[in-house]
Amino acid sequence: MHRSHNCGELNIKNINQEVVLSGWVQNIRDLGGMIFIDLRDRYGITQLTVDINQNENLFQKAKNIGREFVLKINGIVQERTNKNKKINTGEIEIIVNKINILSESETPPFTIEENTDGGEEMRLKHRYLDLRRKTMSENIILRHKIAQETRNFLIRNNFLEIETPFLIKSTPEGARDFVVPSRLNKGFFYALPQSPQTFKQLLMVAGFDRYFQLVKCFRDEDFRADRQPEFTQIDCEMSFVEEEDIYSVFSQYVKNIIKEIGGEEIKEIPKMTFAESIDLYGSDKPDLRFDLKIKNIDSICKNKGFNVFDKSENISALCLKGNSGISRKILDSLTEFVKSPQIGGSGLIYIKCNLDGSLKSSIDKFFNESDLKNIQNMCDAKKDDIIFIICGGYKKTKQIIGDLRIELIKRFQIEPKNKFAPVWITDFPLFDFDKEKQQLHAMHHPFTAPKNEDVEKLNTAPEEAIAQAYDIVLNGQEIGGGSIRIFDRKTQNKIFELLGLSENEIKSKFGFLLEAFKYGAPPHGGIAFGFDRICAIMSNEKSIRDVIAFPKNNSGKDLMIDSPSLIDDDQLKDLNIKLSE
Ligand code: AMO
Repeated sequence: MHRSHNCGELNIKNINQEVVLSGWVQNIRDLGGMIFIDLRDRYGITQLTVDINQNENLFQKAKNIGREFVLKINGIVQERTNKNKKINTGEIEIIVNKINILSESETPPFTIEENTDGGEEMRLKHRYLDLRRKTMSENIILRHKIAQETRNFLIRNNFLEIETPFLIKSTPEGARDFVVPSRLNKGFFYALPQSPQTFKQLLMVAGFDRYFQLVKCFRDEDFRADRQPEFTQIDCEMSFVEEEDIYSVFSQYVKNIIKEIGGEEIKEIPKMTFAESIDLYGSDKPDLRFDLKIKNIDSICKNKGFNVFDKSENISALCLKGNSGISRKILDSLTEFVKSPQIGGSGLIYIKCNLDGSLKSSIDKFFNESDLKNIQNMCDAKKDDIIFIICGGYKKTKQIIGDLRIELIKRFQIEPKNKFAPVWITDFPLFDFDKEKQQLHAMHHPFTAPKNEDVEKLNTAPEEAIAQAYDIVLNGQEIGGGSIRIFDRKTQNKIFELLGLSENEIKSKFGFLLEAFKYGAPPHGGIAFGFDRICAIMSNEKSIRDVIAFPKNNSGKDLMIDSPSLIDDDQLKDLNIKLSE
């Protein structure tokens, strides 16, 4: 028998019991006549003691044990004199009478501790060691629980878990495809799914009605903390639904996860249109844990002789509470932030509402005290607040002030109002217009239905059409997105045309879907959640890498198995691939 108990379960009730434990040596302390070993497994840590006076041979054996050795020990549970209330097993220790070294370990390349000395690269290279650390293993265990909760919820609500293939052809989700060469069909390639979008729609045509899948998706896109080239979606689709049905079912789902995993009760998930979200928060992923709303102050700022304002399409302001005293240096660094290439602003205007009631601004030359007071009132700014102003074209101004909002929240460590702030963002435009290429792009994907009242606009002003599309945002991160789908061939064809696809392209890329729509397609719609992102938020991790057992690094590499890697010439030949020099 390798173990009678695990390393996290013994307590005062087990005193005097003979036990067998197996696990890894977390720590070993040699106090002369006494050796203490912390034995760790996934359940916890148990303290072992080996006393020279009780068994000298055993003591000598213990002396040669190192960190991360795998041991099986026999011993007796005893009450500890030095109790540790922080851990389950902190009131007991095991008086060891037999040690079996199951496996030795070299000194690990970094310490397997909470505050490890290992750099990111090293930890990724030895991921199995990093996963022994408590936070990492807790993240993976929490991920399992969220998956379980998700399955339970969806199954309770009549969803069927159905697998879809990985070797498919391109699904347009806006990223590049990862492709796989076919050996049997020389010169032909499969694409790995960016999502199972078309398959889940075909499952609706097949009559399955409510589908879900925890599924790997593959997207060859640039890296960010919230992106991985392979990631997991909770992919869902429903038949005979409208937008409201989706909000109802999946608000329940998100509330359920926040309650069961995050321990918080959310009453209702608010909805905000895309346009409102941009206007108030400068982003379609507003972090509603923080009040900080953008005010449009055009009406009181224009025609006062300040050319910069007068020629602006929009003038937006943010009021930062209680910081009128910030230094010139901080103001300069915020201006630098706004002007940095990734933000792309041309400057930052401020009005300080001093504690003595006076106002000091960077536009004093153009605005008298009463004008500034008007702006102060419009921004609800009180004594000791500071107002920041950005102006210019509408879209750019909102993006800049939205980025500034996030920067202010970070720099001034603004306290969140609540732990979780989910919000539905609705009414997205159907298309994005690429001015350079003079081409429409699908804002979500080409299967998204326009609002019923906007169908006509497809013929007259498609760029103005609003989609039956939605995202769900949690704490400023897009955790899911979806839409009601087009389910008739005519509208679907029209959208493909508007996206610039020729008849031949439509046929070769999506002929199968249009074909299926010939045979009775039900109205349907769905959503896909970013499972890794949900896990990262619930685990309080900044990067989804920390909730994925074996993630890729920033250059898309798996440093542990050294992938991607070169393949043999024979394999290349089989696949009919010639590499250019
Ligand atoms: P979308 O492209 O919005 O929609 O993806 C759904 C959700 O998946 C997550 N996500 C990612 N997570 C980690 N790494 C990535 N590279 C990555 N890309 C996306 C996000 C996102 O909200 N088929 C549609 C869904 C539908 O219409 O039903 C789709 O894939 O959290």
